[in-house]
Amino acid sequence: MSEETITLNVTRFRPGQDSEPVLQSYTIPYRKDWVVLDALNHIKDWVDQTLSYRWSCRMGVCGSCGMMVNGEPKLTCSAFLREYYPNPVTVEPLVNFPVMRDLVVDMSDFMDKLKSVKPWLIREEEKPVSEGEYLQSPAQLGVYKQFSLCINCMLCYAACPVYGLEPDFIGPAALALAHRYNEDSRDQGKEQRREVIASNEGTWDCTFVGECSVVCPKHVDPAAAIQRLKVDNTKSWIKSLLLPKGGRA
Ligand code: SF4
Ligand code: FES
Repeated sequence: MSEETITLNVTRFRPGQDSEPVLQSYTIPYRKDWVVLDALNHIKDWVDQTLSYRWSCRMGVCGSCGMMVNGEPKLTCSAFLREYYPNPVTVEPLVNFPVMRDLVVDMSDFMDKLKSVKPWLIREEEKPVSEGEYLQSPAQLGVYKQFSLCINCMLCYAACPVYGLEPDFIGPAALALAHRYNEDSRDQGKEQRREVIASNEGTWDCTFVGECSVVCPKHVDPAAAIQRLKVDNTKSWIKSLLLPKGGRA
């Protein structure tokens, strides 16, 4: 019996050397338990060692294997070939990001935006270690847990038409993480994050398309986080009009 095969059309591009990206076709063995990443690894190991792409965990945790699969942002370690077979599968780099080589995109803009919202616990004053941990109840954890599940895979940025048109937009994952820390009962950094979150490039650029939440593999729901930040900012702005100067939300 002849072996079943599947064709992958994969972007090849070396900026500075190639004039434009081209799709290269590889016909490889089909296995129904393979994901797209397995197919790329087969190509890399047995067919063409020059192919470049990122991956690490192969279990939907590290967030490094995001690519466009048949035009949709996907974790390639979670996209099974059987979802596409017997049709060809087109694998391209995440859209909305500059390409460094083949399927590898430059993450610098995302990393800068992430840093700008200070996604860490901020305390006005740290208590001494001898006084123990900052305790939190399960209910307090529940308030932000969903928004803490982000793996920084950037699929939501590739799905976001606003980020595609307005590269300064802080974007879904960074704003979801800002919300995650704002809602953490141990955090006191809301005011420090407000300037970035409340700016035009922050929440107000979002037109609530919602594609970010559709493609998110961890069900973080960044669209909901952004809408909650908008409500919080609006409440804070109204309070600032009503309260004496220095009054806080
Ligand atoms: S919010 Fe979801 S899609 Fe966006 S980076 Fe985090 S895990 Fe990925
Ligand atoms: S390889 Fe880590 S998420 Fe896919």
